[in-house]
Amino acid sequence: MRLVLANAEEQVSRDAVTYSAWGSPLTREGYLQRENRLRTHAWSRAELKMWLLCEAPGEVLASCETYRTDSFLRAPDGTLSAGDSYAIASVFTEERLRGRGYATKLMDLLAAELERASPRVHSAILFSDVGAPLYQRSGYRETPAWDWRFSPEPGEPSALVDRLLQDTDVGATLARMRRPDAPFFYWPTAEQVDWHIERERIYAELMPRPRPEANGAIAGDSTALWYMMGRTGTLMVLMLDARTAEQAAALLGTARRVAHRAGLSKVVLWEEPATAPLVAKVTGGTRELRDGSLPMIRPLRPGLPSPELTPIPRALWV
Ligand SMILES: CC(C)(COP(=O)(O)OP(=O)(O)OC[C@H]1O[C@@H](n2cnc3c(N)ncnc32)[C@H](O)[C@@H]1OP(=O)(O)O)[C@@H](O)C(=O)NCCC(=O)NCCS
Repeated sequence: MRLVLANAEEQVSRDAVTYSAWGSPLTREGYLQRENRLRTHAWSRAELKMWLLCEAPGEVLASCETYRTDSFLRAPDGTLSAGDSYAIASVFTEERLRGRGYATKLMDLLAAELERASPRVHSAILFSDVGAPLYQRSGYRETPAWDWRFSPEPGEPSALVDRLLQDTDVGATLARMRRPDAPFFYWPTAEQVDWHIERERIYAELMPRPRPEANGAIAGDSTALWYMMGRTGTLMVLMLDARTAEQAAALLGTARRVAHRAGLSKVVLWEEPATAPLVAKVTGGTRELRDGSLPMIRPLRPGLPSPELTPIPRALWV
């Protein structure tokens, strides 16, 4: 068995089999359109690769994708060294081939490949929908995964904050956000954040449903970015840099009002260590163990801090 990089044609032909896992509620045609649009997005064109586990030529046993992502190691004196991490998505084995160790073999060969991929390699990260054990076998360790959930509420969204943010504001917004004060962290690019908003645009067209009126907000020094998960009717916070409990409440209140106006059923925020104590003071939220999307990290070089210390905003999900 060997690991092969898929060409453009092989990537498209994989869509036909992965529809069963990730297509609903889109039609088959809609799913093919979604995949084509996501693949031609600027972030994917720069950072996406699809990997195939093959036995004989043309016979695919399992597949997955990687998106190169910027990560940073903080030295004891505070200086940051930039590196490459790889976010793994869409691990898939056709039903008729499952239970024979192909996904595990794919993950093992891929980790060995990624260790050699770049002189500044840091880690691989994935978001498991099938629990931890499958990926633990291949050296991945889970990180804490709590969600804060808020119900939508009526009201004028802009009343609570200094400014609403649009998708064109993402680059400038990321630049003003505070980097985590952690020994190791990932930090998304503007294109990476826009890739999530591209999902919002795609589902808004295909379902169809209206897009929310904003993709974030600013309150004082604090900032939030979010996007609509059209499939589940969720306003999902991608990044939250909250400096005070009041500003956290203003930003999340705005998200709730934006969600209400867009007819969504909930606002969800992935808990991160730096902002958790502030979010806990915001009234109306419930804290829940996350169902799916369990972040798991595999070091690809020695000396990486423990995954439990690594903040994972939703913007990193693939
Ligand atoms: C998950 C998946 C990739 C596993 O592929 P595979 O080639 O059968 O994997 P392996 O043979 O290496 O390992 C199988 C193990 O995964 C476990 N597993 C598979 N699906 C699972 C699920 N939904 N929940 C929990 N564990 C699951 C099996 O129980 C099995 O464990 P065991 O060996 O202890 O019995 C495959 O089932 C699949 O494509 N599912 C649909 C897409 C998907 O959910 N992908 C994962 C996204 S994170």
